[in-house]
Amino acid sequence: MSEIARIILDGIEYELPVFEGTEGEKAIDISSLRAKSGYITLDSGYKNTGSTKSSITFLDGEKGILHYRGYPIEQLAEKASFLEVSYLLIYGELPNVEQLEWFTKSITMHTLVHEDMRRFFEAFPTGAHPMGILSSMISSLSTFYPESQNPNRPYKDIEKTIHRLIAKMPTLAAQAFKNSQGHPINYPNNKLSYTSNFLHMMYALPSNDYEVDPVVEDALNKLLILHADHEQNCSASTVRIVGSSQANLYSSVSAGIAALWGPLHGGANQEVIEMLETIKADGGGLQKWVDKAKDKTDSFRLMGFGHRVYKNFDPRAKIIKKAADDVLVKLGVDDPVLDIAKQLEEVALKDPYFIERGLYPNVDFYSGIIYRALGIPTDMFTVMFAIGRLPGWIAQWKEMIEAGDPIGRPRQIYTGATARDYVELKNR
Ligand code: SDX
Repeated sequence: MSEIARIILDGIEYELPVFEGTEGEKAIDISSLRAKSGYITLDSGYKNTGSTKSSITFLDGEKGILHYRGYPIEQLAEKASFLEVSYLLIYGELPNVEQLEWFTKSITMHTLVHEDMRRFFEAFPTGAHPMGILSSMISSLSTFYPESQNPNRPYKDIEKTIHRLIAKMPTLAAQAFKNSQGHPINYPNNKLSYTSNFLHMMYALPSNDYEVDPVVEDALNKLLILHADHEQNCSASTVRIVGSSQANLYSSVSAGIAALWGPLHGGANQEVIEMLETIKADGGGLQKWVDKAKDKTDSFRLMGFGHRVYKNFDPRAKIIKKAADDVLVKLGVDDPVLDIAKQLEEVALKDPYFIERGLYPNVDFYSGIIYRALGIPTDMFTVMFAIGRLPGWIAQWKEMIEAGDPIGRPRQIYTGATARDYVELKNR
């Protein structure tokens, strides 16, 4: 028997249905509340409000659990390839051999971008942040494929848009990097794997016979998997709400890239490294910085710490922290910033302020250290996050479209001036 929630408003009792998910999460369905009572609910930042039902990703913030379509992130990060996980998120099941071959081939055949896009790079100012470039370039794809603007096109055309997007994102990201370096761009090499192709486009030069280091490729594969989806985070919710107006997928993902860029979201991985470098330059006194983070009069926050959902630990941070040790040893990189990060975590996790608020390292705290060891420049860190998160954004968008969700349009409670008459300028 399904549960009922009872709420009494102005002396009248209303019954609202309770919905329970497959992992035992429960929600009060308030979709009929306004029609029945005239009341709406308020929840700034949607901290306690579910926007949708979804079968893509499950998080348990208290237990530090993260599953993609039921598979634990620890197993996927260890055993799967990024394209395998992308297929899982988008289609709902792990691919068999034929399905993975079909998916990989389709994506490989779409890695090239239109030559006209080269001109865009020339128009950006020198030193333009690659996230600003990437967001613009991804949105402009909808103009090169105008059929993608038709929300009612056949499913096979929608699928082609999905594959094109997954294929072209690394190409555009690498071109943004090469453009920022003043280096000639590299074209995709269809003989390489998805991750190797990206690394080759990033680092090959006419003067070097660049060979992808398997250690680097494995670390990148793991990082992309760990970033692939995270249920209704800020950027995924952005993709959903933009897509709910039937805006095309390229523009919806471009909006997601913009949301991810924020320092409170995906932009935190760049902020963490800059924070750790500042602490290192300041002499490495950690307690001072922990105290600054606790000081409400100080805008400083411990970047890479805290999470809306995880209140014990972010399982991704645990995996990345271990991977950071492994990768730096294998690459023979000695990065003092890793030691500062570990010491900072130790100091903070002994401090009641962080313990009481459930503030632990999140996915962004250690990821920048690995990116740096892989030779990826700091302002490309959030671009790496975007490449990883792309299949998750696509899966969330596809689920929203297939569910026939209505256009997203939240209500509000008005707190401004009540009705008043216009006053002539001379009388003000
Ligand atoms: C990502 O949603 C996702 O799933 C995101 C993500 C994903 O995969 O998509 O996991 C990726 O965005 C990870 C988060 C990256 N951002 C940062 O590392 C920036 C630093 N962290 C924060 O700003 C903060 O923790 C958030 C934004 C992550 C979460 O903010 P919430 O849930 O709105 O929590 P809050 O701001 O209300 O903080 C609760 C308390 C406050 O203190 P009190 O008012 O209770 O006294 O904790 C404090 C905050 O001041 N606090 C921090 C802090 N984070 C929260 N204090 C110091 N340093 C911090 N980092």
